[in-house]
Amino acid sequence: MNVIFFSAKPYDIHFFKDANKQHRHHLKFLEVPLNESTAVLAKEQDAVCVFVNDTVNAKVLQILTDAGVKIVALRCAGYNNVDLTAAQEKGIKVARVPAYSPYAVAEHTLALILTLNRKTHRAYNRVREGNFALSGLMGFDLHGRTVGLIGLGKIGLVTARILKGFGCKVLGYDITEIEEAEQIGVVLIDLDSLYRQADIISLHCPLTPQTYHLINDESIAKMKDGVMLINTSRGAIIDTKAVIKGLKTEKISYLGLDVYEEEGDLFFEDLSNKVIQDDVFMRLLSFNNVLITGHQAFFTTNALQSIAQISLQNITDLEQGKVLVNEVLP
Ligand code: NAI
Repeated sequence: MNVIFFSAKPYDIHFFKDANKQHRHHLKFLEVPLNESTAVLAKEQDAVCVFVNDTVNAKVLQILTDAGVKIVALRCAGYNNVDLTAAQEKGIKVARVPAYSPYAVAEHTLALILTLNRKTHRAYNRVREGNFALSGLMGFDLHGRTVGLIGLGKIGLVTARILKGFGCKVLGYDITEIEEAEQIGVVLIDLDSLYRQADIISLHCPLTPQTYHLINDESIAKMKDGVMLINTSRGAIIDTKAVIKGLKTEKISYLGLDVYEEEGDLFFEDLSNKVIQDDVFMRLLSFNNVLITGHQAFFTTNALQSIAQISLQNITDLEQGKVLVNEVLP
């Protein structure tokens, strides 16, 4: 099949070319993101391969239909950027990579927790400047702390296992029943109790209408004073302005983000020579107890190999008329 990639980075090209040795599709890589202006570039392509911040709304899908596209292959797990109803109406299939490496994201979650706690980001700079003073670097033992996980799917459960290894008490909330959670010692609990009891809260649910701004003024008010909040899931689960208020009042003592609600204008690009216009984001960067990474939790060799293999397999399955096991429906 002819497959066109939007938002393609050198690492995508490397891993997809390698995985394609088994699939033999015709791959075309574009750096530009998919949106209403660029969708025409998919003319005469059978498949479009997109990432988290590409726009796949009804207008884009109409242009893709006119171009002859049969499948939108997401090279990620989340699909909040796709209008699934419009895709179904137009007869375009949508497939994703439901699981590639939950370890990648769970381990990055721990990287954020440990860095914020032990302040290794600050220690690194101090030591390089010959400043060996310890003031301001004090942390706490993770052992014995209570961590609340919202969302106990693949990533939530791996995170729970790692935290149990640290000797944490792990509380969990999910809208579905997760049998495995109790087997690994996660205490299932309602959301309000989780907010009230957790020293650290980490988000592992998808972005849906129900989880949009789940973390807002009201939920923050219920949390423990000095809480640590971690989001490696999707930016808009957090109301960023509410969190900034929480940081200013010191209700929130630590914030670790790998995602940000307006990240589409920022992440995955080198903007170091530009003036960043997003004042809310810049305010976040001004706090020394806020650690932000640019949506890199998934970014391991294991995950990228797996993403490339599964994305191309989805396209191959459609080509061969097989059941599209990773199809996403409205
Ligand atoms: P999953 O589908 O295995 O698990 C999600 C869990 O969240 C499910 O158990 C589901 O029942 C639960 N859930 C849904 N709505 C909920 C709600 N309102 N409250 C509480 N729980 C709810 O997904 P997985 O693989 O664990 O990924 C979780 C999220 O992580 C993804 O949706 C994606 O947004 C994000 N992600 C971030 C990456 C990054 O690089 N930062 C990479 C991969 C995923």
